[in-house]
Amino acid sequence: LIEGITEAYTATGNGAVTRSDVMLRIEDAAILVEDDRIARIGTREELGRDLPADVARVDMGGKVAIPCFVDPHTHLVWGGDRSDEFNRRLHGAGYVEIAAAGGGIKSTVRQTRAADRDALAAKALRTLDTMLLHGVGTIEAKSGYGLDLETEIKQLDVMDQVSAAHPVEMVQTFMGAHEVPPEYAGRPGDYVDYLNRELLPIVAKRGNVPYVDIFCEKNVFELDDSRRHLEAAAAHGFKIRMHADELHPLGGAGLAAEMGAVSADHIVWASEEHMAAMAEAGTIATLLPGTSFFLRGRYADADAFKQAGCAVALSTDYNPGSSHTVSQALMMALACMNMGMTFEESFIGVTLNAAAAIDKAATHGTLEVGKKADIAFLDAPSVMYLVYYWGINHVSDVMKDGNFAVR
Ligand code: NIG
Ligand code: FE
Repeated sequence: LIEGITEAYTATGNGAVTRSDVMLRIEDAAILVEDDRIARIGTREELGRDLPADVARVDMGGKVAIPCFVDPHTHLVWGGDRSDEFNRRLHGAGYVEIAAAGGGIKSTVRQTRAADRDALAAKALRTLDTMLLHGVGTIEAKSGYGLDLETEIKQLDVMDQVSAAHPVEMVQTFMGAHEVPPEYAGRPGDYVDYLNRELLPIVAKRGNVPYVDIFCEKNVFELDDSRRHLEAAAAHGFKIRMHADELHPLGGAGLAAEMGAVSADHIVWASEEHMAAMAEAGTIATLLPGTSFFLRGRYADADAFKQAGCAVALSTDYNPGSSHTVSQALMMALACMNMGMTFEESFIGVTLNAAAAIDKAATHGTLEVGKKADIAFLDAPSVMYLVYYWGINHVSDVMKDGNFAVR
């Protein structure tokens, strides 16, 4: 029995929601955990009745309890860093310009190809530690900094390795189509053929990679190549996610809807017609305000997605180039201040809808009976401090799968 909770705060539900009238707030709360699940949640008084006398009690001493954050879009595994490219951007160079000169994603590809497995794993484990300290219990993680058979598999192997060794839970995505590798420069179609022929069958056989993602973007993988890759992926049984309409209004959001994608991400330039198609298809809009912030670009139109009836999730897009952060609380702040979201909407975006964006809303993303005991505790006067006192990590304790992973 966990007591000493001044306030438990959560959305409620087992799937993505498009409204924010699903919040539950319990003052002076207690949570009964059995094994890895929430067995009861309510006021301390309610739970205090009919409890076995020998129940183990944990006193949090006055903290706020929320469901662990879910981060549904991360590029977890990569080598090196791009801090000097970052400084070049501060001196005026553009992201697309740097990429065109062989920097950007391609520079991380070189560094990831050169890194050995243990170095990649050690770095990924440090990142997972940081995520956990920031209250993140579950993430989606993609490959995509290899762009060849050997390195893409190396990235997936590293994910297996660190996932087995760390409490943060992970779902894997194959993103061989993250960029056109130098070997196929100017021939994205040939690279897609290579991915379809050589990599998809091998990755499908691994059995623990449910998703395929693609960077559908002007001068990267345009609509026809994207469709061809995603159709091949679907034929292998993969579910679809997409980086769509990030830098240009190419129409990726429409393709995501057409493909029945679980989630379309970025979607800064999505048209209203495609937003409506996404709503119809049940494709979640995963918005990445950290990327807009870090690239000083336009923010996605959260309100238009809401009007279209699309469920909105938020993610860090953790990666070395366009958004180098793990803080979902900071994404809430950016979404509230720059995308016009309410606190409640942003909270749902990093919990329930984020879980739905990785098909885990039935078990993750809220504090409800039967769901995973994945609980982050905030050392703050109220849950509002997540955004109101911004730029601060308020998470002091984290329970993952019923055990304290941070205390
Ligand atoms: O989601 N847009 C493409 N991919 C990443 C950026 C990766 C990088 O710059 O290394 C993104 O923003
Ligand atoms: Fe990304």
